[in-house]
Amino acid sequence: MKKVLVTGGCGYIGSHTIVDLLNNGFEVVSIDNLCNSTEEVLEGIFQITGKRVRNYAVDLCDWDATMQVFSAHPDISGIIHFAALKSVGDSVEQPLRYFRNNLDGLLNLLQCAQEFEAPYFIFSSSCSVYGNTTALPVVEDTPFEEAQSPYARTKQMGEQIIRDFSVVTPDMRYILLRYFNPAGAHESALIGEAPSSPANNLVPVITETAIGKRPEVLVFGDDYPTRDGSCVRDYIHVMDLANAHTRALQYLIDQKQAPRWDVFNLGIGEGVTVLEAIHAFERVSSQKLNYRIGPRRPGDVVAVYADNRKAASLLDWQPRYGIDEIMRTAWRWEQHRSGLSD
Ligand code: NAD
Ligand code: WQD
Repeated sequence: MKKVLVTGGCGYIGSHTIVDLLNNGFEVVSIDNLCNSTEEVLEGIFQITGKRVRNYAVDLCDWDATMQVFSAHPDISGIIHFAALKSVGDSVEQPLRYFRNNLDGLLNLLQCAQEFEAPYFIFSSSCSVYGNTTALPVVEDTPFEEAQSPYARTKQMGEQIIRDFSVVTPDMRYILLRYFNPAGAHESALIGEAPSSPANNLVPVITETAIGKRPEVLVFGDDYPTRDGSCVRDYIHVMDLANAHTRALQYLIDQKQAPRWDVFNLGIGEGVTVLEAIHAFERVSSQKLNYRIGPRRPGDVVAVYADNRKAASLLDWQPRYGIDEIMRTAWRWEQHRSGLSD
């Protein structure tokens, strides 16, 4: 059985990926310092899979502590690196904190991977690396525009660091995965998005409004040049995203990747407007949502969605869920965590 280190394993995408990895026969250890999560999620993972995962509450910026985890598990062969700070707005307020956390953590992990000869490395990147691109759908070769935040810059720099490091690590293989807009929750509603800091992404804002934690959803602009005037995004179900990681890892294990690094877009390949997302929520929850049109949000791009054909053909990956399933599972999760589910 292959042992995989998942960093950020108590976080949103990491926890769902652990479920998919365990269900596909991998053994998992996690490093997560719990700065945006809790270890409660490990219980949810156990209930879903019947398997216990050990988390080391270690900060990846702490070299000695990170090394100790590798010393305890010298048989780690794959690393999936989710751990990062991810709030675009916070990164504008605290750029050094973002550079230190996201880049130091990556540097330490890469060095450990080299020293302990862990050959497969998967990095969480983001569609934000493309900046304000107008080339749609976005393909992996679409040139990067200026990063719109320090957060986005940590992803551009992270990708570049890995590419530079790959030059001197010929026995390692790297995959950079650029996620579009992850949303939704595990079908069981036992795990989902549970950040310690307030959510500001559209889907949790919608479900938190519907449950009564927020008074309303403010739609950031309806005067964009789109089919209904609101912005277009590519919302991808978190379990589809999770499965892409398992497939990427298997692709590396099967020695299918000749170049030292490669990059894949992970989106469903379709754009959904903010108003369409709201109406999908109303449809699947059978309730009206209290929303109001507000001003545009500074920094928002009009539209962005992925060309996902590369992941489909090389990783043999197909997203299975659309916006209705995203809203249905996100809503079940919101009800579960608010103690309102049956
Ligand atoms: P998340 O905040 O839920 O999970 C990240 C986890 O990493 C958290 O549990 C946090 O406690 C941990 N962490 C952060 N810094 C750490 C450190 N120095 N040492 C150890 N643990 C640390 O975020 P997520 O939504 O699951 O995102 C996972 C990855 O995917 C991140 O790299 C993020 O930038 C990237 N990403 C997320 C989105 C999104 O919209 N959720 C989109 C594109 C890319
Ligand atoms: C989606 C749409 C908003 C909230 C962010 C990061 C990106 C990536 C994914 C990490 C937009 C609209 C939102 C609300 C609204 N993350 N909206 N009212 O900005 O596309 O992408 O998450 O890598 O880097 O920037 O996601 O969920 O914030 O917004 O109208 O209260 O919903 O304007 O059109 P975004 P989002």
